[in-house]
Amino acid sequence: MDIERTLAALTLPEKAALVSGKKSWYTAAIDRLDIPALMMTDGPSGLRKQTADSGTTNINDSVQAITYPAAALSASSWNTDLLRQLGEHLGTEARAEQISLLLGPGVNLKRSPLGGRNFEYLSEDPLVAGELGSAYVQGVQSQHVGVAVKHFAANNRENQRFTASSDMSQRTLRELYLRTFEIIVKAALPATVMTSYNKINGTLNSQNRRLLRSILRDEWGFHGAVMSDWGAVANNVQALRAGLDLEMPGQGQASVDSIIRAVETGELDEGTLNKAVRHLLHIIENWLPADHHDTYDHAAHHDFARHVADDSIVLLKNRHQELPLTAKNAGNLVVVGELAAQPRYQGSGSSHVNPTNLVTPLMALQNSELTANYYPGYRLDQSETDDSLAQAALEAAKSADHVIIFAGYPENTESEGFDKTSLMLPENQGELIGSLAKVNDHVTVVLQNGSAVEMPWINSVDAVVETYLAGEAVGEATWDIITGKVNPSGHLAETFPRRLTDTPMAPTFGQDPHHERYTEGVFMGYRYYDTHEMHVLFPFGHGLSYTTFEYTNMAITENEHGATVSFDLTNTGDRPGQAVPQLYVANHASHVPMPTKELRAFTKVAVAPGETKPVTLKLTRRDFSWWCEGKARWQADTGDYEIMIGDSSRDIRLQTKLTMDFKNSPAPVTMETYLTTIVQDPRLRDIFQATVLAPKYAGENNFLAATDENGNLALLQDQMFLNMPLRAVIALGGPAPLIADFIAAANERKG
Ligand code: BGC
Repeated sequence: MDIERTLAALTLPEKAALVSGKKSWYTAAIDRLDIPALMMTDGPSGLRKQTADSGTTNINDSVQAITYPAAALSASSWNTDLLRQLGEHLGTEARAEQISLLLGPGVNLKRSPLGGRNFEYLSEDPLVAGELGSAYVQGVQSQHVGVAVKHFAANNRENQRFTASSDMSQRTLRELYLRTFEIIVKAALPATVMTSYNKINGTLNSQNRRLLRSILRDEWGFHGAVMSDWGAVANNVQALRAGLDLEMPGQGQASVDSIIRAVETGELDEGTLNKAVRHLLHIIENWLPADHHDTYDHAAHHDFARHVADDSIVLLKNRHQELPLTAKNAGNLVVVGELAAQPRYQGSGSSHVNPTNLVTPLMALQNSELTANYYPGYRLDQSETDDSLAQAALEAAKSADHVIIFAGYPENTESEGFDKTSLMLPENQGELIGSLAKVNDHVTVVLQNGSAVEMPWINSVDAVVETYLAGEAVGEATWDIITGKVNPSGHLAETFPRRLTDTPMAPTFGQDPHHERYTEGVFMGYRYYDTHEMHVLFPFGHGLSYTTFEYTNMAITENEHGATVSFDLTNTGDRPGQAVPQLYVANHASHVPMPTKELRAFTKVAVAPGETKPVTLKLTRRDFSWWCEGKARWQADTGDYEIMIGDSSRDIRLQTKLTMDFKNSPAPVTMETYLTTIVQDPRLRDIFQATVLAPKYAGENNFLAATDENGNLALLQDQMFLNMPLRAVIALGGPAPLIADFIAAANERKG
C-alpha cells in the first residue's frame, strides 16, 4: 500500500472510523480503498479468540486454544530463549486463526502481592520483565503477528483501575515502572503498545501527551501504533491530541462523529488525525494475515506448554531431600486436595483461555511412575473445614510414607478486575496442611496460585513446590518435577514476604479510591526487603534444584562505557541441571538513596554433572545510572560499586568491588551543573578557563575571574560559590553568553 496516497484518498469520516475500533476486536475496514479490518485477540498465555459473529458476551466463551502457563509461572523460568519460543508458538497459533495483533504480553510490575493482575504480569523487577517481555515479543512477531505490549503504564492495582491515579516521583517512574516498557520498545520494536486504564500523577494514560509523545515516541523512538485498553478513553479527541492512535473497542458511531465534529470546529487539527491514521495504515500493512489458513500441531504445542511449566516451576523448599519421589522411594504415598482433581491452572478475566487438553494432576498421576491413594481433604467451594473430608485424609496420612497436598487460591479470590485482600490460603486448606504435618513427617505442599502466599505452616512441612498457574499441562509438569523426571530450575521473579504487613505499601495499598501513592519510591520488592535487611519467606530470585552449583573465578574488566563480568559455574551434584546466575550491582558512588542492590543482568545455564562452564555477563553505563529528577536525565557517577553474583538476591556467591570512571564520558553539562563538578574535572576546568575566565568581560568585572593576592582564582577558594549551579551564577550576574559558550564546548564530543 502506498501509505501517503491512501491517506490522501481517505475522507474525514473514513479517517475517524479507522482510529475508532470496530465490533470489539477489529479495526474498521474501508472497502472502497481495499483497506481490510485487522483482528486482535487476547492474550498473553493463550488465544482468547471471540469472533464478531459468535455474538457472545461471555468472556470465557472463545475458540479452543493451547493454555500456556500464566506469566507468573513462565517468568519464573528466567529463560529468554524459552520466552522467545513461547512467543513463536503463540504467533503460529494466532496466524492460524487469522489474527493480526496478539494483546500481550502484560509487563507491569508486581508492586504489591495483592495486585489482582499479578498472575498475568512477569516480575517485580523491571529488568526481568523487560528481558523476558522482549523475547516474547520477538517470538510472536517472528511469526508475522504483531503484539500489544500492555498496560502502559503503572497499572499496579485493579480496584478503581479506570480512574485511580498512580502517583509517584519521576525517578520511581523512570527507574521502575517505565523501565520495562523502555527495554521492550527499544529491543523488540513491538507493533503496538496498549495504554492502561489508570492515570499517572493525575493524567489519564490514554490522554497523556508526555507519556505517549515525549517519552514513548520522541525519547524511545517508538514507531508503532498506540491503542487504548478496552474502554480506557474518556475523551477520544483529547486522546488523539495526546498521541493515541486507536481507541478500543471504540464507541461506534459516537466516537467517529465526535472526531469529525472536532476537526470541523478546529478543536482537532486534521494533521494530528492524519498522524494517527498513518500509524494505523502502517500496522495494517505490516500485520495483515496471510490469505491462506495455516495449521499447527496441537499435540506438539501442548507438549511445549508442558515444557514451559517444567522449566519454570519453582522448588521453594526441600528439607532432607524429601523430593524427588520415585517409584523406588515413595513407598505408601497419599495425595490430598481437591486442587489435584480440579486444578487452578490459569487466571481469570481477559486472559482466560478455553483449553484444548487439560491434564489434571490426578489424571497425570496415572501415567507417572508413582501410585498413590487420593483424598480430596477439603472443598474448594468453601473455606470452612469439612470434617469428614479432612478426617479421611488425616487417617490415611498417619500410615503413609509420604504425603503430597495440593493447595492454592480458589478462582474467586484472584482475578483481573479486583485486588486481593489477603495472602492466606483459605482456612480449610491452611488448617489441613498443619494437621497433616502433625501426623506425618514427610509432607510436600504443591501450590497453585497467581501470586505470593503467606505460609504460617512452612516450618512443619518438608517440601514446597510452587507451580503458580501452570497451564493445561499442569498435571504432567507437576509430576515431572516431583518425580525428578525434570530437575527443577525455576526461580521466583518476585519476593514472597513473610506477612502481608511486611510489604512497604501495606498501610496504603488500595486505601484511597482516587490515588495510589507510591511512597516507597524505588524501594519496592527486594529493593525494599534487602535494603532494610528484613526476613522474607522466600527471596527474589530463589529456586532450588536437585543438584548443586558452585560459582568461582570472578573477573571484571571495565571501561567508561560499562563492564564485563565473567565467572565459572560448576555443577557439583550428580544430575544435569540449570542454574540462574543473577548479577546485582550496589551503588556506593551516588548521593541519592539507593537500594543495597539492584539486578542488572541474568542468564540461565544448563550444566552437566561435574561440568564447569564459563559465564559472561555485560553491564552498560545505564546499569550504573539513576534518574536525576533535577536534570531530567540518567546519571552515572564516578566512584565505587559492588558487583555480586547470586543464586537469589539473598544468596550471593561471588562479590567484588569495582571503581567506575565516567569522567571521560561525562554526563552532559547543563545550567544545573555545579561549579564544583566543573572545577574538579580537568577537561571541564580547561574549557571553563578558555571560554568563561580568559576572555575579557566587556566593560564589567568578570567576578568569576577574580583572583586573590597570590593570583589564585577566588572562585576555587570559595566553598559557597562552588556549591552553585551555572544558572545561579548567571542569576548573580555571571556572563550568560560566555556560560552558554562553555556549555556548548563542554558538550562537544571528542574525537
Ligand atoms: C484488559 C486488557 C484486554 C482487553 C481486551 C481489558 O479489560 O485490561 O488486558 O486485552 O480487555 O479483552
